[in-house]
Amino acid sequence: MNEKKLIYGCMGLGGSWDSSPLTLNIQKQADKVIETAINAGITHFDHADIYTFGKAEKVFGNYLKRNPSLRETLFIQSKTGIVLQAGPMQSSIYNLSKNYVLDHVDQILKRLSIDYLDTLLLHRPDPLTSMEDLAQTLQELKASGKVNTFGVSNMSVAQIQHLQSFLDEPLNCNQIELSLDHSFLLDLEVWVNREESPKEAGLNNLLTFSSLNKMSIQAYSPLAQGKYRKSDFKEEKDKLTFHLLEELAEKYNSSVSGILLAWLWKIPADIQPIIGTTNLKRIEESAIALNVNLSREDWYALWILAKGRKLP
Ligand SMILES: NC(=O)c1ccc[n+]([C@@H]2O[C@H](COP(=O)([O-])OP(=O)(O)OC[C@H]3O[C@@H](n4cnc5c(N)ncnc54)[C@H](OP(=O)(O)O)[C@@H]3O)[C@@H](O)[C@H]2O)c1
Repeated sequence: MNEKKLIYGCMGLGGSWDSSPLTLNIQKQADKVIETAINAGITHFDHADIYTFGKAEKVFGNYLKRNPSLRETLFIQSKTGIVLQAGPMQSSIYNLSKNYVLDHVDQILKRLSIDYLDTLLLHRPDPLTSMEDLAQTLQELKASGKVNTFGVSNMSVAQIQHLQSFLDEPLNCNQIELSLDHSFLLDLEVWVNREESPKEAGLNNLLTFSSLNKMSIQAYSPLAQGKYRKSDFKEEKDKLTFHLLEELAEKYNSSVSGILLAWLWKIPADIQPIIGTTNLKRIEESAIALNVNLSREDWYALWILAKGRKLP
């Protein structure tokens, strides 16, 4: 059985998604969030070079500069490979070429004010970089001491296998969206051989594949980005799910956020939710939920209501 883990995702730190400068206020808000997460027992932090145009890493780095002894107690990861607004219609493009990745890792380390990353993740697959070239880049980074381990994000089973085939050391995680609201990975495991089977989109058996290869699934948007809260629900199923979440929050002496996370931890794979809330109370409630163990019946009831249909 894997130990339950919770990751704090820093996408919400650093202010707005533009090149406007950092202000003292933005830094102070980030300090409070980081401090709350650490005091709640969270030691694993997720970044990406694109978050708030680098400012999320910068505020974190500033915090570390003031608390240098913390570095060795934390597990710090970042991602690269997405170039924001570099295509037509403000679309992102992807770049995992050697020069881009090496240069961006240097920038990440500088902003975070650290010498090495515990893990570097490839943010999205780049169809213009061969997996063989990419593996060489990763090996170079490892040899330089700038990155300890590697993971991927938003990659299919076949892409992970392909990249892995050129690497000596194991890729340790795949960061992908997974929540009660977005349970596609689980759907793929149970709607087997059915006319209404979900379209696999390269993710077929990703859960099983991950367990088989001892890769963790870093579940992003685990709180469903606040979908389950008191509001005008778009669909009846969301309202029913929210009411059950509230009921279970009471039953397990937890919170709606806590039950959403406990739902993920119940899955017997190495699922590591990455919370992105900047609300201090929600961060604390999330960490406390590590103690909640949902019953089988409650877990299934949530899944069925959230899907709004019977299981096969
Ligand atoms: N690899 C990738 O492609 C990828 C993509 C997306 C995210 N990520 C990573 O995953 C992390 C988490 O993603 P996420 O931010 O989408 O996850 P999340 O924790 O599901 O969502 C956080 C957002 O939902 C809001 N929220 C949550 N519960 C709420 C409630 N009860 N009421 C009102 N608002 C609520 C939060 O607002 P408050 O701050 O007000 O609580 C915040 O805006 C990111 O920080 C990033 O590190 C990775």
